[in-house]
Amino acid sequence: MLKTKESALRLILAGAVIFLLAFGTKNAEADALVASTLNFDLDWKFMKAEVPAAYAVDADDSGWEQVQLPHDWSIAEPMDKNALAGKSGGFFPGGIGWYRKHFQLAKDAQDKKVFIQFDGVYQNSEVWVNGHSLGRRPYGYVSFQHDLTSYLHFGGENVIAVRVDNSDQPNCRWYSGSGIYRHVWLTVTDKLHVGHWGTCVTTLDISPGRAVVRVQTRVQNETEQPKTCQVVTAIRNPKGKIISTLKSSETIPAHAEHLFDQQTQVTNPTLWSVNTPSLYHAQTQVLDEQRTCDETDTAFGIRTIRFDKDKGFLLNEHSIKMKGVCIHHDAGCLGAAVPVRALERRLEILKSLGCNAIRASHNPPAPELLDLCDRMGFVVIAEAFDKWDGAFGRWFTQWWRQDLGDILRRDRNHPCIVLWSVGNEVSNQDSPAFKQTLRNLVEFVHEQEPTRLVTCALRPRKIKSREENATAIASIAKLVDVLSCNYQEQWFEDYRRACPEKVIIASESYPFYRGKGDTHKAFYPFNPWLDAEQHDYVAGTFYWTGIDYLGEAVAGWPFHGWNCSLIDTCGFPRPVSNLQKSFWSDKPMVHIVVRDDDLDVPKPTKDHWGWPPMDSNWTLPFKEGKEVEVWTFSNCSAVELRINGKTIGMKLLKDFPDKIIKWKVPYEPGCIEARGIEHERVVCSDKLQTAGEPAKIRLIADRKDIRADGSDLCNVEVQVTDKNGVLVPAFDHEIQFTVQGPGKIIGVDNGDLTSMEPYKADKRKAFHGRALVVIQSDRDSGKITLRAQSSGLPMTELEISTR
Ligand code: GAL
Repeated sequence: MLKTKESALRLILAGAVIFLLAFGTKNAEADALVASTLNFDLDWKFMKAEVPAAYAVDADDSGWEQVQLPHDWSIAEPMDKNALAGKSGGFFPGGIGWYRKHFQLAKDAQDKKVFIQFDGVYQNSEVWVNGHSLGRRPYGYVSFQHDLTSYLHFGGENVIAVRVDNSDQPNCRWYSGSGIYRHVWLTVTDKLHVGHWGTCVTTLDISPGRAVVRVQTRVQNETEQPKTCQVVTAIRNPKGKIISTLKSSETIPAHAEHLFDQQTQVTNPTLWSVNTPSLYHAQTQVLDEQRTCDETDTAFGIRTIRFDKDKGFLLNEHSIKMKGVCIHHDAGCLGAAVPVRALERRLEILKSLGCNAIRASHNPPAPELLDLCDRMGFVVIAEAFDKWDGAFGRWFTQWWRQDLGDILRRDRNHPCIVLWSVGNEVSNQDSPAFKQTLRNLVEFVHEQEPTRLVTCALRPRKIKSREENATAIASIAKLVDVLSCNYQEQWFEDYRRACPEKVIIASESYPFYRGKGDTHKAFYPFNPWLDAEQHDYVAGTFYWTGIDYLGEAVAGWPFHGWNCSLIDTCGFPRPVSNLQKSFWSDKPMVHIVVRDDDLDVPKPTKDHWGWPPMDSNWTLPFKEGKEVEVWTFSNCSAVELRINGKTIGMKLLKDFPDKIIKWKVPYEPGCIEARGIEHERVVCSDKLQTAGEPAKIRLIADRKDIRADGSDLCNVEVQVTDKNGVLVPAFDHEIQFTVQGPGKIIGVDNGDLTSMEPYKADKRKAFHGRALVVIQSDRDSGKITLRAQSSGLPMTELEISTR
């Protein structure tokens, strides 16, 4: 089903009433609406409480809060030291909530099928329409659909009720959010229609100059008569030109379905890759005689993927290393209700570090994340589950087949996905029960989705000896296609000897150190990336994590999130991320950090995942007249360092096996500059300057022109600087924000995961001189003015246009 464009959407969803008047008529407009998937996010009513019989048609919701989806009730509530979710959930409350939505359907739509799809409801949801239960769905990260048709009043009012139960806590090892935290879609189709997630596009054969594309379309005939159905699929190339039209027809008996199988050859295909993420489209029409009953549009990529025991991962037969990060689904101050622009911005920031791979840990992500990875060029390990039992895997045994089947069907057309993962550090990984379950899961994926291989992230717990460990891993490696190891670079060579036929992926790695010897307790000052770089059989490294997330607050109250990532919750890259950038970036770069135990910087709270105190800051009054250690991260063969215009010297990268060029220099206020040198030429540079007194607020918008669609965002970085525009790192006063015009503040943050300030607010303390304000557009175009004010500083304004 085609998703309606924003403009059409506004017309159709005006108010709480949906008029599907055009159905069944013969004009062109009607054809456009023959089968539609409408965004169903507006005008929900919400009550954060258990309300008896709130599913009933006549339940009184007049006093309920009016909300727009995606909606996460937890992020709007205060953190609570005694919250049942504890550290895992970041001390945010869970609880029970009800949602209701009233809508009308046109009488003429009564011969249609109507479905509702939830992209994600956390968790344990039950959906009713007009008082009839449509079923429960426990797993909060999975997308699911219900058929509403039999219970609808065409030509009258309908009510959907959703009960969400996130009260049994803790149930997730990180912050989950609560509620209908992803989009909802209403699909209205003919009774002859493409089944749910019923299109499957694969490329059968790619040889130089040609590819064979196969489009399988499952069509359901839910009428009382046999139907002679025609399926017409147009293949559009990345420029939008139709390059092939496929036609097939078949008589489908009443209440039966048929899998149409179409193939076409594409000459000189533009291959999808991380550098050229070119997307083709398969646009399918289902016709009953001459009448179009349903339409779908499926983006796909033409590419080959292969894991080779000696060469690692090959995309289009070129070996590429996965320069990866693991991420969770929340977006800091926005909680789990994440507009697509927030995801896009995060991916842009990761891309700027040279990252090309995402492990969507440890659950299916929002569909939009995969669309973005397709479009922006990231390869993805799509992981279905974290644990398979206990408090964090309580639904698994009963539901995994249904959940995994739905995940595979929903996501199989994304070219970005290159590997499925079925679990993460499941307990008792040496037990026969674990192995049997793993066998079942891998076999299931192979049967349902044979175009990609399967893995499961492993981590041994009790290590007796290196030999025993390697033997134990080899016995599990037999059961998976690719061996994914969390934090085990130190044993990769043992694993290679024990299972020489397997490609290894470092599915989780410490951002700074590498483990050593037989234990996780000791560390080499070498980055785990270097292991991937040195071994061809290692396909890549996924740092834990790319971006800080809420929950898994290992240090306990007042920490409420994980702070050992390359990027903080605001999306500000940490100084350490420039080390990864120096490994990953194709462009010459150099970055200066001061390395000193006395720096006033947030300390990563879990030692193994941490790094020594460092900062990109040259305002160090406590170092006046003293020597200071400076590190430079660079991919250039030589770096020259200068202080206040005087050269300190030049050092060669090859002399530093850990790839960190180290200097001891006298601290002098002013300017320190590093220059990256290739062939005696300066190819890049970085500068730090000493700041004076705080003098102004600088507002830096990621984009000043945004869409007036009620969803788009302007992310504004707030910096307090001296009169010369140099960031003042010591500034930590509160900054007040006001917004005028067609937009609103939907979150404020400063990256400090010990701050108890609310994320839904119009003020925030600066943290090391900075903060973030997230503004969301309304549906009216115009000018949004953001004003920022803090005591002693002049007010600053920023204008954003929405159209
Ligand atoms: C890993 C686990 C991740 C995260 C990380 C940091 O072992 O797979 O989900 O918990 O540790 O504690």
